[in-house]
Amino acid sequence: MLRKLLIGTALATTFAFSAHAEDVKEVQMLHWWTSGGEAAALNVLKGDLAKEGYAWKDVPVAGGGGDAAMTALKAMVAAGNYPTASQMLGYTVLDYAAAGVMGDLTETAKKEGWDKSVPAALQKFSVYDGKWVAAPVNVHSVNWLWINKAVMDKIGGAEPKTFDDFVALLDKAKAAGVIPLALGGQNWQEATMFDSVVLSTGGPEFYKKAFNDLDDESLKSDTMKKSFDNLAKLVTYVDPNFSGRDWNLATAMVIKGDALVQVMGDWAKGEFNAAKKTPGTDFLCYRFPGTEGSVIYNSDMFGMFNVPDDRKAAQVALATATLSKSFQSAFNVVKGSVPARTDVPDTDFDACGKKGIADLKAANEGGTLFGSLAQGYGAPPAVANAYKDVVSKFVHGQIKTSDEAVTELVKAIDDAK
Ligand code: BGC
Repeated sequence: MLRKLLIGTALATTFAFSAHAEDVKEVQMLHWWTSGGEAAALNVLKGDLAKEGYAWKDVPVAGGGGDAAMTALKAMVAAGNYPTASQMLGYTVLDYAAAGVMGDLTETAKKEGWDKSVPAALQKFSVYDGKWVAAPVNVHSVNWLWINKAVMDKIGGAEPKTFDDFVALLDKAKAAGVIPLALGGQNWQEATMFDSVVLSTGGPEFYKKAFNDLDDESLKSDTMKKSFDNLAKLVTYVDPNFSGRDWNLATAMVIKGDALVQVMGDWAKGEFNAAKKTPGTDFLCYRFPGTEGSVIYNSDMFGMFNVPDDRKAAQVALATATLSKSFQSAFNVVKGSVPARTDVPDTDFDACGKKGIADLKAANEGGTLFGSLAQGYGAPPAVANAYKDVVSKFVHGQIKTSDEAVTELVKAIDDAK
């Protein structure tokens, strides 16, 4: 569908602009990095490109998880109006590549040695048909807890190692009159949390089979049912105003001490950074209980479009800057993520970042690195959207039981496949 819609415009755009002209010294970038921490991270890139004489044309589309941004991108591309690059997640890159609208960064990749420095798990999504079509910016991971340290001390809590420990900790916060769990009731946030619940409930093999292989037996198993029951349990610790809340406002509740904990990808740490908070002193980062040793990842990629010739030099400059070792360190320190290259030292990262880098390496080597279904790395967008929809209906009571949730999940994923 996307393919048919886009191929005509791809050809039209290429021909319309193939005349030689002076290089346009501008990078046009579509993204959904609009929170305080995200904007601070993006400024690192804007600064690096400005030093090389490139102007920045920002195309921000608010909305964590990027659904709104991807709708905007589709409209732009269908109109033949390609940005230099767009923030994209996993399977979306492959969809645009299959539609024939992406550029080819292979020459730059060869020159810069990306084949050797970017892990295979990311190359699977940034290389299509042997050509580099995207530059990975980072690796985020979603199976984290972000905890306010002062609240933790006040309630006498300790790191929860199992799901039951976690429930006991949430009970302590509740008894102390603190909101136990900060959640934004938007489908992508709920599903991002559910990714961790499933890994914790079923273990690494189960997560992979269900959410990366889309194995029917696993999707409809008792373990999946139990995962929904565990999710229902967590939702009892959320405050009544959670519906529709933005993810960074949920993070702010933890930063301020209004809530004990948020389950969120490590972009949440970007908000703690922006608020000048220090891990170990002001906040704590733990793996979601029962998931230590595994990493559920997503990676922000800059998908590179097949822009007119006079815009290609700017695109190469953007791609080169994005994968430079110094940028990979400076940007990810601010963003809360870890480098998309394996050869960047962890020296400048805080304790959570150092743990993130070490965990990623161990998971990659040990076969426990899994794509996030909620974050576009488990399955193509249609399946991910079906998943987010079912999880959200369950959280908001439109699907009432875990039995029903499992039935709906299997059906929705089957229909979307
Ligand atoms: C992206 C992060 C971003 C988060 C919230 C995720 O999908 O990977 O970079 O910070 O959404 O906006």
